[in-house]
Amino acid sequence: MKTIDLRSDTTTRPTPAMREAMARAAVGDDGFQEDPTVIELEERAADLLGKEAALYMPSGTQSNLVAALTFTGPDERLVGVQGNHVAYTLRADPRIAPLTKPLFLPDMGRGCSDPAALRAAIDGPGDKITMLMLENSFNTAGGTALTLEETAPHVAIARERGLAIHLDGARVFNAAAALGVPAATLASVADSVTFCLSKGLAAPVGSVLCGSRDFIQQARVHRQYLGGTMRQAGIIAAAGIVALETMIDRLPEDHANAKYLAEGFAQIPGITLPYGVETNLVFIDVSGTGMSAQDVATRLDPGGVRLGAFYEPSILRAVTHYEITREDCDIAIAELDRLVASVPVG
Ligand SMILES: Cc1ncc(COP(=O)(O)O)c(C=O)c1O
Repeated sequence: MKTIDLRSDTTTRPTPAMREAMARAAVGDDGFQEDPTVIELEERAADLLGKEAALYMPSGTQSNLVAALTFTGPDERLVGVQGNHVAYTLRADPRIAPLTKPLFLPDMGRGCSDPAALRAAIDGPGDKITMLMLENSFNTAGGTALTLEETAPHVAIARERGLAIHLDGARVFNAAAALGVPAATLASVADSVTFCLSKGLAAPVGSVLCGSRDFIQQARVHRQYLGGTMRQAGIIAAAGIVALETMIDRLPEDHANAKYLAEGFAQIPGITLPYGVETNLVFIDVSGTGMSAQDVATRLDPGGVRLGAFYEPSILRAVTHYEITREDCDIAIAELDRLVASVPVG
């Protein structure tokens, strides 16, 4: 029985072409910047994102932390919105939180704060805010693909006040595909951008942080101090190069499957869709089924369908990716339908 794993696009396993490239990758010590495959990945990533230089990172989380450490000094802080992935990772550990002292403003919908609130925060008392964090696609509430028009007021305020802008583009290629623009266009508003190779692009490990040469030089030092230097990393970077070559252009297929899945789920009594579906993330609210999200996930699992119960108690997430076919979507819809029909609403 095939497991239809819709919990995340991080579950994707490397393609045969990736494994082949990994086996024959030329490698060196990336701590000395002597790994030719890492260098090639970094150059290609910088080109794709329209930046001067790039740095191969172990994860999106570390990439965001390194960007934050590079753009904020000891008595400075960054600002983002509630729901940003970093709102969790930069604050979760009380020993890490003081490093960047992040401030998260209420999300007015679609991953953006009220511009007036942003201006007031920057001009307010306390530690100086030197960095604005944007996230595109915005992943907590729908996988929203933010247009340049939507972020323009925030970008303008940041520029006016001299803040650096970092884009957490873990899934920026999904956002770009949804909007029909190059990823470099979405990254053009930011001084730095990070994207994940290990999500919808299906590489086994890593993210790439892109920015100016000067920024990357400083970021390289922060990466080292955080323990992120990866030596003969060409072995995994080789899969990243294949990901850039082969996985970006097929993302619209995942988006079409996500819409199909959402339409199927929405037909099931008691299931509602709290957000629109713009990229490869589908959120469903199961309040009307008499079950919690965790109940639903637990009961579907033995039948081979996995959904993510990571958010509010009634919200489940389904993420499409290259291992999910249209037929898998049909099975997932049928399994959820069968489960809901078997549970009397109390
Ligand atoms: C928007 C966003 N940023 C960062 C990350 C973290 O990436 P990683 O799991 O590679 O640390 C994620 C992971 O889901 C994400 O969705």
